[in-house]
Amino acid sequence: MTAKKKPKVYITRKLPDVVETRMRELFDAELNIDDTPRTQPELVAAVKRADVLVPTLTDRIDAALIEQAGPQLKLIASFSNGVDHIDIDAAARRGITVTNTPNVLTEDTADMTLALILAVPRRLTEGARILTDRKEEWAGWSPTWMLGRRISGKRIGIVGMGRIGTAVARRAKAFGLSIHYHNRHRVSTETEEKLEATYWDSLDQMLARVDIVSVNCPSTPATYHLLSARRLALMQPTSYIVNTARGGIVDEAALIKCLREGKIAGAGLDVFENEPAVNPKLVKLASEGKVVLLPHMSSATLEGRIDMGDKVVINIRTFFDGHRPPDRVLP
Ligand code: DGY
Repeated sequence: MTAKKKPKVYITRKLPDVVETRMRELFDAELNIDDTPRTQPELVAAVKRADVLVPTLTDRIDAALIEQAGPQLKLIASFSNGVDHIDIDAAARRGITVTNTPNVLTEDTADMTLALILAVPRRLTEGARILTDRKEEWAGWSPTWMLGRRISGKRIGIVGMGRIGTAVARRAKAFGLSIHYHNRHRVSTETEEKLEATYWDSLDQMLARVDIVSVNCPSTPATYHLLSARRLALMQPTSYIVNTARGGIVDEAALIKCLREGKIAGAGLDVFENEPAVNPKLVKLASEGKVVLLPHMSSATLEGRIDMGDKVVINIRTFFDGHRPPDRVLP
């Protein structure tokens, strides 16, 4: 970075200490030490004075906010992989560059996806709760007690075969699942061969034939409720669905209905339509052992968050050195 004057960088949430220290060294950084989510008026004030906004997925960076930005705001360097919280078109109209933090969350998110894929059919959290909640006394092992469903030999249908979807496929293959996927375009023959993956041009047809559906596509207007009531109804009553992408990709009300009516056997959800609110009907289904719920923590590792911070720093520095930042997001 060659600029004499350090760019004024407004960071909306608390970041790992090591990241904040680096930000302080390099930039005129305004941090959020106590991690209180910023209100819209606070964000408006920030975009009127900062050169760079570093939001996270909990901030709403919509057209109304972007339109109020001062001319000094040049970069929105999001501390996130997904950018569905940012109106990219509105930013482009104002000549504001947007960047994200891809690649560094792939393995962590895929690990947690597998954890849910294992947890739901094998009743992992239900079993753990029996010993910790002590609602019922454990009478000891019995041949017919706590029976789940076998994972190996089943078919997984991955919706969205990007980086995370592919990382899920690698892990799923190691667990003996056969890999099926639906994507906007086919992955390379080499990847398909390595994963022994079957491509389904028709999402509907894939949903009807697999045992576990894993949602791994980005959230965009085109993928909103991609797993609609009609599509969920195509799934087999013995099948499971796992979502570690974004809540809005699955029609949550329709999913709840399918789970309650036994049209889908179970679900593992790390993301929800109205985060941080979680539909109480899902919580009830969790208490009945039909779903496993996690509080949007699939990518939550210290290493991952530090890597994200490094990416934000590189994007800001490259931008102020007059170059195209490596993780620029185009409209
Ligand atoms: C992201 O950055 O998009 C992830 O969902 C965070 O967990």
